[in-house]
Formats: sequence, C-alpha cells, structure tokens
Amino acid sequence: MTRAEELENRLRLLVNFGGVVSKETNLQKLLEIIAEQVKTILGCDRCSVFIMDRQTNELWSKVALGMQKTEIRVPFGRGVVGNVASSGQTINIRDAYTDGRFTHEIDRLTGYRTRNILAVPLKNVGGHIIGVFEAINKASLPFDADDEGILQLIGSLAASAIENAQLYESLSKSQLETIYRLAVTAEYRDQQDTAIHLRHITEYSGLIAQGLGLPEREVENIRYASPLHDIGKVGIADAILLKPGKLTPEEFEEMKKHTLYGAKILCNAESSLLQIACKVAGSHHEKFDGTGYPARLKGEQIPIYARIVSVADVFDALCMPRVYKPKWETEKAREYILEESGKSFDPAVVEAFDKVYGEILKMHAIGDGKATIIPGITKELHKHTF
Ligand code: C2E
Ligand code: SIN
Ligand code: SIN
Ligand code: FE
Repeated sequence: MTRAEELENRLRLLVNFGGVVSKETNLQKLLEIIAEQVKTILGCDRCSVFIMDRQTNELWSKVALGMQKTEIRVPFGRGVVGNVASSGQTINIRDAYTDGRFTHEIDRLTGYRTRNILAVPLKNVGGHIIGVFEAINKASLPFDADDEGILQLIGSLAASAIENAQLYESLSKSQLETIYRLAVTAEYRDQQDTAIHLRHITEYSGLIAQGLGLPEREVENIRYASPLHDIGKVGIADAILLKPGKLTPEEFEEMKKHTLYGAKILCNAESSLLQIACKVAGSHHEKFDGTGYPARLKGEQIPIYARIVSVADVFDALCMPRVYKPKWETEKAREYILEESGKSFDPAVVEAFDKVYGEILKMHAIGDGKATIIPGITKELHKHTF
C-alpha cells in the first residue's frame, strides 16, 4: 500500500469509527469497541483504554486474562500510562524493555511481551485528561508520526463518547434508585408482597420485549420503567383500593383515575426513562380494540411500552392473590391472555408472551411457594438487577 492509499484507508476507518462509537452508551462495551477499532486502524496487536479515577488518583483498565477480564490500576504519574496522564504528552516507545518509564507489571500479569508502545492522552472538550490510550506492538515497524496523529484524533473522538457513557451510567444508577423507591411507595398498600410483584412486572415485561425482538436498550428501558405502571394508585383512597369485594361502578370510575394520576406524576420528566414510565402509567389499561381507559386509544396509538406492560400486568394480577380475588392457576391465566389477543392485547405482544412463556413461568415460581426461597433472598435478587 502506498502512503496515500494507507491514509485514505485509515480515513475510511475513522469515519466508520465515529458512527460506531457514538451509538454505544454502555461504558464497558464502548471501551471494548474502541480498543478493537484502534487495533484495526493502527494495525497493532493490543490496545488498552485507561480511564482516570479522580477519587483514587489512578487509571484503570480491563485486561483479558485467559477467558476472564481483570481490572488493572496504574497510579497517576507512574509508568508509561501514568506519565502520559500527568504530562498530557504523547509517549512513543520503540523498545519498551530498554525504556525506564515502562513497568513490567502488566506483562508479568498477562504473560505478554510488549515491544513498542504508543500512548496518547484522552482529553475532553475542556482539555481535561480523562484517560489514556495505549496501543501496543505494531505489526511491522514501531509506531510513527502518522500513527501518533491518528491515535490523537481517535482519542478526541473517543473522549466525548466515553464521557457520555460515564454520565449515562452515573445518571441511570441514581435514576433507577429513585424509580424503585417510587414504585415501592405506589405498591406497598395493596400488594401482599411488593418486592415480588415489582420483580415479576420487571422480568415479564423485559422477557416479552425480548420476545418481540426489541433492541437491548429498549428492553432495559422497559424493564426499568415497568415497575412504575401503577404509581398513580398513591392517589386512590384506601376505602376503594383495599376493598375486599367487588367495586361499585362509581368506585371503579375513581379507580380508573390511577392511570391519569400516574401520568401526571411522571410527566414532564427530563429523563427518557421517566418519559417512558409516564407512557406506561398513562396507557397500561388501554385495550388494543379501543375499549380500554382512560383515553380509549386503539392499536398502535397505544405506546408499545404500554402494550407490553399491559400483558405483564394482567398475567401477574391473575396469578397473584388480591384482596378482591383469589389467584388463578397459571395455565388458566395464560389461556386468558391468548383469548384476549386482538381484544385487550396486541396480537404481536401476545405472540411474544407465548414465545417466552417458559421463562415467565420460571420467574413466576419465584415467590409463589413453588420454588424454594429463603426469606430475604428475593429482596437481594432485585437489588442486584439494578
Ligand atoms: P390489579 O389488581 O393490579 O389488576 C390489574 C388488571 O388485571 C385489571 O385491570 C384487570 O385487567 C386484570 N385482572 C385482575 N383481576 C382480574 C380478574 O379476576 N379477572 C379478569 N378478567 N381480569 C383481572 P382493571 O380491571 O382495569 O383494574 C385496575 C385496578 O383496579 C386493579 O389492579 C385493582 O387495583 C382495582 N380493581 C379492579 N377490580 C377491583 C375489585 O373488584 N375490587 C377491588 N378492591 N379492586 C379492584
Ligand atoms: C505502563 O508502564 O504504564 C504499563 C505498560 C503496559 O501496559 O504494559
Ligand atoms: C424489582 O424487581 O424489584 C424491580 C426492578 C428490577 O429488578 O430490575
Ligand atoms: Fe393499573
């Protein structure tokens, strides 16, 4: 390849890189994608992305040790990586083992033989160093000035994607915690076991979304938004919500308002997750044939999230005891869901429900006494999914 051809080739890879990287919001996956791309673009054997941890003044990275990934940490200012982070300067080493800055620790850990290293700082738009890129063992020659330029360029593209992913992760952790607390508040009055009900709704909704083939991001969204579907019940009086028998028509009219209350509580939220939760709370009692409430929406007018949670909700309501009804056998509940295809429920969603029904049953077994569970374990379980 001539130099011009090589540069053109790299440019093409770079354009592709921007597209690939901007879509991923999961930090760990993003770092893996970046490392893969850098290896291809530079033609080197390894690439590690080190991320600055300001709390401990270290840089961390995940390295593969056999089948497993281990986190390694380098102190700021130490070794090649630490020096790049503290100086903000690129370091290009032709022969690692004769360079005083190179620490052999990672090679010792991985059994890998580092020959040449190109390490560049990762700077955000404000010019702050958020990490270091380290490319190792270029196939033929040591890294040259072109490689330096290109790795710096990749670094600036990657830095903003990495910062976004970091922001997204920290945001969603606190968002998820808030959501779970809200959900517990909403459910604890009329459910015998709030944790189990919320877990069922979460898992059933996620499984159905998967069965529908929705992208992983949407599956996650629906998992986290679904426990809030009945948040509006906080606005319903005990006399109605906890009534042991059948509701009068007037009482049921009042009860229906839990959808409106829920949507109101969650509306205008900035977080996309709460926006989805708002749609679910407002529309989970709409029916596919247009006979539901509160707005008598029909078919695709009902947000897909609500069409999914509606199936999960009714299946769980039927299979669990309520103050106003005993629990149904799961098979009877499944038949009911299938019968209501095209009436209460979106046929595509019912089909997905049936496809993942085996998994749903397994989840159902947790908490209805069929599976052995030690008290406290379910609580642990759902703590972990967050
Ligand atoms: P929920 O108990 O969580 O029930 C959610 C949905 O599951 C119900 O929405 C309904 O579509 C379905 N479902 C629950 N139990 C049965 C059942 O025995 N047969 C059938 N065919 N479907 C069932 P729905 O009807 O819009 O009710 C919304 C909420 O209103 C219920 O949430 C519950 O909190 C309350 N509710 C409904 N009916 C009664 C009642 O007769 N007495 C009391 N105390 N509350 C009721
Ligand atoms: C370092 O000295 O900073 C680490 C070198 C390596 O990654 O092997
Ligand atoms: C729950 O199961 O309690 C709700 C949230 C989750 O598990 O992801
Ligand atoms: Fe509801």
